[in-house]
Amino acid sequence: MRRSLLLAILLIFGLFLSLTFGQTLTATAKYGKPKIDAEMDEVWKNAEEYVTDRYVQGVKGKVAYAKFRVLWDEESIYVWAEVYDSVLNKDNTNPWEQDSVEIFVDEGNEKATSYDNNDAQYRVNFENVQSYGTNASRDYFVTATKKTDFGYIVEAQVKMRTRKLKEGDVIGFDVQVNDADRFGSRVGIIAWNETENENWRNPSYLGNLKLVK
Ligand code: BGC
Ligand code: CA
Ligand code: CA
Repeated sequence: MRRSLLLAILLIFGLFLSLTFGQTLTATAKYGKPKIDAEMDEVWKNAEEYVTDRYVQGVKGKVAYAKFRVLWDEESIYVWAEVYDSVLNKDNTNPWEQDSVEIFVDEGNEKATSYDNNDAQYRVNFENVQSYGTNASRDYFVTATKKTDFGYIVEAQVKMRTRKLKEGDVIGFDVQVNDADRFGSRVGIIAWNETENENWRNPSYLGNLKLVK
């Protein structure tokens, strides 16, 4: 009797935690190398589509979001993101408060609580201006963007800095969309995996990316 009560309490607590913070998600990346030009090549078409739908900041249903796909080869991962954002603005002097997409990578997937050498944070705004968080630099980031009638497209290559990739590997990964309003204030943050605006300093919040052929 007592044991089942304890079990029930644990179950309810677990449910509460997963509803509040969300499960750590796993996406799959298919093998392939696209041309980085913000045009969708054939190779993207068999990659699975995911959505950034975890609200970090902003009003549900109003915040810009992205549908995205991921590919990989031995040297890099590639992200195709279609961002649904009706008001594009890059006035803020903080690049993370401009309309932009961020990509987080943990090449070792250690889920450590602070950045180590194999973690990096990349950002690009809708006009293809890049900016870099910890360990990131232009040497590892190739991007193209294009405005569309629904918002903008980002196509990005993130080169691995510490290792080669192979089939079956799982790395830490997340995508974040920053949404600026017409005055240049960030009014929304939405991510694929995380919910706390911690990715930029705590890679344990990243989801998982599984590399398949
Ligand atoms: C976060 C910002 C943070 C910035 C630092 C972004 O991902 O949303 O709050 O200041 O990273 O690079
Ligand atoms: Ca790491
Ligand atoms: Ca916007």
